[in-house]
Amino acid sequence: MRLRKVELHLHHEGAAPPSFIKGLAKEKSVNLNGVFKSDGSYAFRDFVHFLSVYEAATSVLKTPEDYARLTKAVLEESAANDVIYSETFLSPDFCGGSDVGAWREYLHAIKDAADEAERDHGIILRGIVTCIRHFGPEKAKASALCAAETAGDWIVGFGIAGDEMEGKPKDFAYSFDMAREAGLRLTAHAGEWGGAQSVRDAVDDLKVERIGHGVHAINDLALVDKLVENEITLEVCPGSNVNLEVYPSLADHPIEKLRQRGVKVTVSTDDPPFFHTTMRDEYINLARTFRWDEDVFAELNDTAARAAFCDEDTRTRVL
Ligand code: ADE
Ligand code: ZN
Repeated sequence: MRLRKVELHLHHEGAAPPSFIKGLAKEKSVNLNGVFKSDGSYAFRDFVHFLSVYEAATSVLKTPEDYARLTKAVLEESAANDVIYSETFLSPDFCGGSDVGAWREYLHAIKDAADEAERDHGIILRGIVTCIRHFGPEKAKASALCAAETAGDWIVGFGIAGDEMEGKPKDFAYSFDMAREAGLRLTAHAGEWGGAQSVRDAVDDLKVERIGHGVHAINDLALVDKLVENEITLEVCPGSNVNLEVYPSLADHPIEKLRQRGVKVTVSTDDPPFFHTTMRDEYINLARTFRWDEDVFAELNDTAARAAFCDEDTRTRVL
């Protein structure tokens, strides 16, 4: 579907085509045994294994220049899917190991590549600094410091990804407070693997305005009402949820029920090559499964543009 699209939930490394990672591994003589299937796609059995394959693939991205090349590849693919605005998750843990000086160098390289993609393809990139839940609260504080030091017009948010079954949102409240005080907008992965309580905790303890996934909120209708009342936007990634078997099929996915109940839902791909999806595929599959027409997708993109963490001038260009 050739509609202009706004994508709010995309992991920078998770958008790396397998061929790109394979090429870098060869250049750097890194052995990536077990990362790829014989057909060349990423190999993982379940979510926890996915996280370790993700980290192994990411280990070949060793310099700011590698991230610049990755950024170019990712934004070209997004633009080819008619994405006009994208927010990607960037983690200091992968970009310089939480050293603020190194982090700045990575961000400069990524921003230069993004500026070039904006000139060439018209796509706008903004960054959300992300801590990794299974790396623990101390590493999260170092990431929040990097985020606070680089908050500005293109680093616009702070978030948390990784294994939702490790720790509690309140363990990360200090980091989220630091990021908020630096002027960053907040989102958290929750309700992907954890239940409705996990979403409630992220909203109450981290005071986020968006939730990554959030789909298990559907099991607690009082929480659904709270999301509606507080205008919390869900960054829903249906293809990711089906690929990782959070739901057996798209028909079983709660995105339409959440939307019908008035929750602000948006659609993203999460880690598209890992989950064999693209933004166009997501739209085509949602249109087929739920009979969504162009008006529904227009509303979805309007919701996404309004929930984007960019400044108002940028939002005007996207709306
Ligand atoms: N990191 C990359 N993809 C993720 C996902 N779907 N959930 C949590 N952390 C992630
Ligand atoms: Zn995600």
